[in-house]
Amino acid sequence: MSVFRKREALLHHYVPDFLPHRQEELERLKKWFEPVLSEKVNMKVHIYGPMGTGKTVLCNRLGRYLMDEAERRGVNLKFININLAYTPKPYYVMSSLMEKVVGNPGLGLGPEEMLINIVEKICSEDMKLVVALDEVDTYIMEKRDPKILYMLPRVHELDQRAAGRISLIYISRSLKWLDRLDEATLDTLGRTAAVKLEKYGPEEIEDILNYRVEEAFKPAAVPPEIVEFTAQISYRCGGMRYALELLLGAGMIADSEGSSTVKADYIRIVHAGIPKGANGAIYPDELSIHKQMLLKAIMDGLRSGGGPYLTFEEAYDLYTVECESQDKDAEDKETIQSYLQDLKSEGYILLKRREGEVLIGMEYPFDRLYEDLERAMREALRRP
Ligand SMILES: Nc1ncnc2c1ncn2[C@@H]1O[C@H](COP(=O)(O)OP(=O)(O)O)[C@@H](O)[C@H]1O
Ligand SMILES: [Mg+2]
Repeated sequence: MSVFRKREALLHHYVPDFLPHRQEELERLKKWFEPVLSEKVNMKVHIYGPMGTGKTVLCNRLGRYLMDEAERRGVNLKFININLAYTPKPYYVMSSLMEKVVGNPGLGLGPEEMLINIVEKICSEDMKLVVALDEVDTYIMEKRDPKILYMLPRVHELDQRAAGRISLIYISRSLKWLDRLDEATLDTLGRTAAVKLEKYGPEEIEDILNYRVEEAFKPAAVPPEIVEFTAQISYRCGGMRYALELLLGAGMIADSEGSSTVKADYIRIVHAGIPKGANGAIYPDELSIHKQMLLKAIMDGLRSGGGPYLTFEEAYDLYTVECESQDKDAEDKETIQSYLQDLKSEGYILLKRREGEVLIGMEYPFDRLYEDLERAMREALRRP
């Protein structure tokens, strides 16, 4: 016996059909994309809002609608979501795109050649693409090569037949990244419509949870006051994502205890076990690939050293080793210093200065964080 009806409906990447509090935005996006389905035009939109506001799920829900609708109408359309936080160079972005469109990652080609392959494929098969550039702000704020942003909108210069075939969705936490772009790149973004998502309040989290619980759990397995309790805790700790994690974990405890309902104590136990920083729950899969490698190096160093701190130089050396083993070029020390500041403000690490030296520490046990990080890195580094 299990409290679950469909456990995978609680996983982070699951895309439910109905998105409470985002249906209006979904309808707006569907309307904007209607011409993409019915005419030879493309569309560019921004979806932006803080972490956990449903940007990725909304965009993927739209993508599913577009694919279904295209199939119904006999249109050849592909929706692709690429996480730019994991693809630190145009090469990786294009390779990932080529893999999904052409079916091979174009290893050994340059990004421009890969794009030519993609364009050839979509023209010859009369295909349309809707490409979501997820976490584009992370990519640009870490000073990655912005050329990727003007390559895609200008494919018609490569082949006139490609005009109007590639639509783009830019997903970011805020629009600040646009200030980093030069005039020419901003120009190619063109006139872009935008959907802004606001942070959910506790009542909204509760509403959304009620739907997710209905899909994932057997009737009456999660009493209403437990849903409310979960929403209250989650609101302060990381929002919707945290709430789903609490319920998934608590449901698993219920199963192992042989209980037919999820109890408050199970929620408390899971709550206590989730790694948190100064600003609530921390999710290493939200970090760029270089920050992930840096964080892993820090934990390796702290583990093998056994003390509370390691020096910047030690951390940097371990980071370069990690880069080497992942076949990525290491960033310079100055860049890594700025990443350390970011990791500090996001609550992952402590930084302190001693006699002109920078020391790095972590205040919580990090076994679980290390596991989460390794999983995130496997995902991020899964070469196309
Ligand atoms: N309106 C909603 N309805 C159902 N689930 C939602 C909704 N908004 C967010 N979620 C869920 O909450 C989690 C965080 O959403 P996500 O799309 O990853 O946020 P973001 O990309 O803005 O950081 C995901 O597991 C997502 O499925
Ligand atoms: Mg997201």
